[in-house]
Amino acid sequence: MVMEDHLKLCTQSKRKCFSTKFISIFVSSLFLVIILFQIQYSSPFEFSLSARSQRWGFLSQENYSGVIKTMTEELKTSVTFLPLVDLRFRETATTGHTWFMSSLNDTLEENETKHLYFPSKASKGRLLCFKGRNTRDGTKNSYALAWRGSLPESAILLEGLTFVSDTYYNHENLWHGICAMTPLVRWSMKNECLKPTRWVLFHWGELRLRMGSWLQQLMQASFGEVKVEGFDRGDVPYCFEKAIVMRHDLGQITRENKLKVSDLLRCKARSYCGLNPAGKGREMNERGFPIIRLTLLMRRGSRSFKNATAVTDIFAKECARVEGCILHIVQSEDLSFCDQVKVLTNTDIVASPHGAQLTNMLFMDRESSVMEFFPKGWLENAGVGQYAHHWMADQSGMKHQGAWWDPIGKDCPSPQDHLQCFIFHKDGMVGHNETYFAEWARRVIDQVRLSKVGKPSEDQAKQQHDSKACAC
Ligand SMILES: *[C@@H]1O[C@H](CO)[C@@H](O)[C@H](O)[C@H]1NC(C)=O
Ligand SMILES: *[C@@H]1O[C@H](CO)[C@@H](O)[C@H](O)[C@H]1NC(C)=O
Ligand SMILES: *[C@@H]1O[C@H](CO)[C@@H](O)[C@H](O)[C@H]1NC(C)=O
Ligand SMILES: *[C@@H]1O[C@H](CO)[C@@H](O)[C@H](O)[C@H]1NC(C)=O
Ligand SMILES: *[C@@H]1O[C@H](CO)[C@@H](O)[C@H](O)[C@H]1NC(C)=O
Repeated sequence: MVMEDHLKLCTQSKRKCFSTKFISIFVSSLFLVIILFQIQYSSPFEFSLSARSQRWGFLSQENYSGVIKTMTEELKTSVTFLPLVDLRFRETATTGHTWFMSSLNDTLEENETKHLYFPSKASKGRLLCFKGRNTRDGTKNSYALAWRGSLPESAILLEGLTFVSDTYYNHENLWHGICAMTPLVRWSMKNECLKPTRWVLFHWGELRLRMGSWLQQLMQASFGEVKVEGFDRGDVPYCFEKAIVMRHDLGQITRENKLKVSDLLRCKARSYCGLNPAGKGREMNERGFPIIRLTLLMRRGSRSFKNATAVTDIFAKECARVEGCILHIVQSEDLSFCDQVKVLTNTDIVASPHGAQLTNMLFMDRESSVMEFFPKGWLENAGVGQYAHHWMADQSGMKHQGAWWDPIGKDCPSPQDHLQCFIFHKDGMVGHNETYFAEWARRVIDQVRLSKVGKPSEDQAKQQHDSKACAC
């Protein structure tokens, strides 16, 4: 290439062509090709430096180690940090273009989530580095790519595999947290169940130092101790020996793969909490009737029932009509992580107001049932948010048995202000309709009862499936 360029130059400016200078450049280029060949040969990734060869050609004539030293210094200083979030793409942060590490394209795999892995062919063998630990402004944190042999000045190399998660929502809420983590769990399943040495968490590129306790325990159950990186060893760049970056939440994982993730999380959580990973299996009472466990999962404060006693009475009455039906009333806030796993492992039907506590449906055996209640106004104001637990049921293999929207309640004081109305209704409470609740409960309990007197072969297949779920 060098030679071609010179030949081109020559034909343009005729005379000086075959001067001794050119010959010396040609000879030194040959030497350099040999050096570059050696560099390439020793690296597992392909990258080409030939474009720079001309200048170093002069240097290399005398002292090759000098060339390499210069080259390394140049590479070190050429590492460029860019803001973690790119405000140009703010509007499309949740769709289309991502604003997090916007200069880098995702790697696509059929049926899997888009991701970025470092070092890889896509990163041309470079590692990922972060700088900054701002928790309020994602543009104040930055990222860069660098080769391991030429990391930026005073960079700290963090060994092992790092899981990096940026979410538009948060890592505290059960539902949003699980959406952010599902791609990482899936990626691990696909890659020999690799476990992270540490986690790096961002929300809009702002550093987060912890995940919610529920999520943390679920991740601990799946991967062992969860170490969230705080970059607290000085204001220097931190580079990762290996890093996987997820920035799309659930992304494009197929339902089948989401189900596999749910099976694994359920199984891991049950083991972690000392329960049988395969679940409760089929239970019979002493008279040979299948046991049906119905749980009312209560909340306090916003979206609690206006009259919990009345709701309990309705469900108790319907449950009592069916032999083998057992009703449990539990207050979600009072339960530890493992208590939640235990209660839901032993539930066939969970009835609960809309809220993060319903994410616990994950821990029921597959094909269990969910009944959901909304306060007045939610239907008009929550947008797609109202489907969160339909999606959760879909991805965890549960049956969403419908939702009830309270028609009664105060009207929003400023009906024109959509956000105000959403907040107003979000904190509303849930009433009840005795006729409706009773009919609905009867129908669901009956359906579950029928499925429980189903064929024993199906039951066996299910148990085999459950025992295989802890794939990792
Ligand atoms: C080659 O370069 C290195 C680094 O610049 C220097 O330490 C060394 O003395 C040089 N060797 C020769 C033979 O010039
Ligand atoms: C990312 O993809 C876009 C569209 O396919 C392409 O134009 C761009 O060059 C790619 N960027 C990098 C860094 O590969
Ligand atoms: C992707 O999913 C579709 C539908 O489930 C399936 O037919 C296809 O084989 C899957 N492809 C891969 C590579 O797993
Ligand atoms: C709640 O419902 C119960 C049972 O229907 C009823 O006796 C009670 O008066 C109700 N409480 C309130 C505060 O409305
Ligand atoms: C309660 O539910 C029943 C049955 O769906 C319905 O006919 C009735 O109108 C409802 N009552 C109120 C006050 O919404």
